[in-house]
Amino acid sequence: MQTTSDRIAWLGGKPGACTSSGPGEGVARRLVLLGAPGVGKGTQAELLGERLGACHLSTGDIFRAAKTMPESERSPALAAALDFMRRGELVPDATVLQVVRERVHCLRCPGGFLMDGFPRTVAQAEAFDEWLASQRLRLDAVVNYELPLENVVARISGRRVCSRCKAVYHLQTRPPKKPGVCDQCGGELYQREDDRPESVRVRMAAYEKSTAPLAGYYGARGLLVPVSAEGTPEEVFGRTLSSLEARR
Ligand code: AP5
Repeated sequence: MQTTSDRIAWLGGKPGACTSSGPGEGVARRLVLLGAPGVGKGTQAELLGERLGACHLSTGDIFRAAKTMPESERSPALAAALDFMRRGELVPDATVLQVVRERVHCLRCPGGFLMDGFPRTVAQAEAFDEWLASQRLRLDAVVNYELPLENVVARISGRRVCSRCKAVYHLQTRPPKKPGVCDQCGGELYQREDDRPESVRVRMAAYEKSTAPLAGYYGARGLLVPVSAEGTPEEVFGRTLSSLEARR
């Protein structure tokens, strides 16, 4: 995964920095990806982004990018957000909504978007609906990735991320060619702080309590597309495309 211009616009919150070439199949797709931590949303967002020409917009990536900012440049809300994240807790809604509000231009991207990690609570989903309506946009679908808990934990514990370009690997299922080194940019691979077992337990509990109810929220609006996340990334990708195609 390269740091493409759409990621710079989203991560840095700079309007006008996106040079998306527009929708890959002629129609802009606007999707939300739901599912437990580690289920594979980011992996699927990369594959879907390449196929659909839509921008991958991850709130977790914004917070991780903020970690590399000099401390003096972080707002108090952003500094507090990093503490919540480190512990595996959800960042408070007011902070998340502020961060997304600063990037609302990304919702208007002509290529569409793939929302990964947002919304994560019913309050965030309601605010998101209001913004979309104010921009005269609507969601095409909300893909809900489903996987048994033990598989999710195995995916999280084997994850390694490139410190430079943020490409995601897995020690068993997607290993780099050279251990500890990114295939794409040669950067050093590391384990995310919130992938340690004590934080993973907190993340799973937060997911069950606050995020899982979004399946009901979007189901009631006719937008929910359940997809099994079992199998290889390519199998899950194929399943996602056929489930989305079946809705059109
Ligand atoms: P965020 O970055 O959104 O993390 P998450 O939802 O916990 O999701 P992950 O990034 O852990 O996993 P993923 O589903 O993308 O899986 P991946 O593709 O990497 O959020 C982090 C934190 O930020 C939150 O805990 C919270 O504190 C804060 N935050 C962010 N947004 C927020 C919000 N809206 N409100 C409040 N707080 C917020 O895959 C995982 C691993 O599995 C990888 O190693 C991958 O290679 C491997 N893998 C993927 N697919 C497969 C497959 N099919 N088979 C085998 N291995 C696979």
